[in-house]
Amino acid sequence: MKLEIAVLSGDGIGPEVTTQAIKALDAIAHAFDHTFIFKEALVGAIAIDKTGNPLPDDTLQLCANTDAVLFGAIGDPKYDNDPSAKVRPEQGLLRLRKELGLYANIRPVKAYETLLDKSPLKREIITGTDISIYRELTGGIYFGKKHLNEEGTVASDLCEYSKEEIERISHLAFKAAQNRRKKLTLVDKANVLESSRLWRKVVTEIATAYEDVTLDFLFVDNAAMQMILNPSQFDVILTENMFGDIISDEASVIGGSIGLLASASVGDTCCMFEPIHGSYPQATGKGIANPIAAILSAAMLLEHFDLIDEANSIKNAVEKALELNLTTPDLNSTNPLTTEKVGDFIYDYILNPEDSNMNFENIHVGQSTII
Ligand code: IPM
Ligand code: MG
Repeated sequence: MKLEIAVLSGDGIGPEVTTQAIKALDAIAHAFDHTFIFKEALVGAIAIDKTGNPLPDDTLQLCANTDAVLFGAIGDPKYDNDPSAKVRPEQGLLRLRKELGLYANIRPVKAYETLLDKSPLKREIITGTDISIYRELTGGIYFGKKHLNEEGTVASDLCEYSKEEIERISHLAFKAAQNRRKKLTLVDKANVLESSRLWRKVVTEIATAYEDVTLDFLFVDNAAMQMILNPSQFDVILTENMFGDIISDEASVIGGSIGLLASASVGDTCCMFEPIHGSYPQATGKGIANPIAAILSAAMLLEHFDLIDEANSIKNAVEKALELNLTTPDLNSTNPLTTEKVGDFIYDYILNPEDSNMNFENIHVGQSTII
């Protein structure tokens, strides 16, 4: 297969982790005889610095005309601490999602057997957790009308959803549940919010077309609690934009590090793949950022194009790295590898999974035959 991929590595650790994701895709291209063509473009704070615009027109054009987008991270503290900033890096990402029509954001959360003791949550609580979060991505309070009065003393953000916006992501979530454990939980705040009541109504109607899927509902406050009390009860979680943003960061604690969580954002014509973590400015350039979320986002890209063996090849390499504790400091405080070395291992493992000469034990001292 030939794929043209726009690479928007963005800010902070974005470029470092995206480089490792590209490397994994290069290994797949070699191993499975595909051609992946990467085209870089600016987004975020770096785009503001160079062009004044967090999403320059060229970037948007490129993304709209390639097969997929690989996204790094966005954000810079100089904007976070300035409430009066007129332009913000995050606007680039939000506009990109909207313009490309990426209405469904899929965030898998898994408790890897080998990492059960890395999570701050107890092993017996997280064992068996395997959740797929379907977060609505182009509506709700993120995109509703915003208002600040002239005195700057009263502000509002409108949370608005239409039936169509709810329907299109709900169908994707129900279909995903059919291929998994056939359970779908709608997370909302229907005891308070009108928009949540519309979600319940529409999702309940749609459920009749998916009789094999069990639908239940949780208020978001309770869902936040259940997520850390008993996460293995969840299969597919469907929710609106902001609840999904919050719940997915919370869920990342289960896996032991937010540096493991990948995501796919899909619409009717475009698709984008990005780690769920932010730009982690304190780590920039230090080689300590975990590249696995970015690498697993590349695996989701392959899955999206039905390259299932290829995606599994990346996932197996990642699992091997985790099993051998060949990881960055977030998961390995005593003997960590750098971002690049983790990427090197995954690259080599994809190309030589059976190589009996591999000397994993010596990998930390640089004597491995593969690093
Ligand atoms: C995410 C991020 C973004 C969001 C930010 C960077 C705008 O937190 O992808 O989860 O809130 O959607
Ligand atoms: Mg977030």
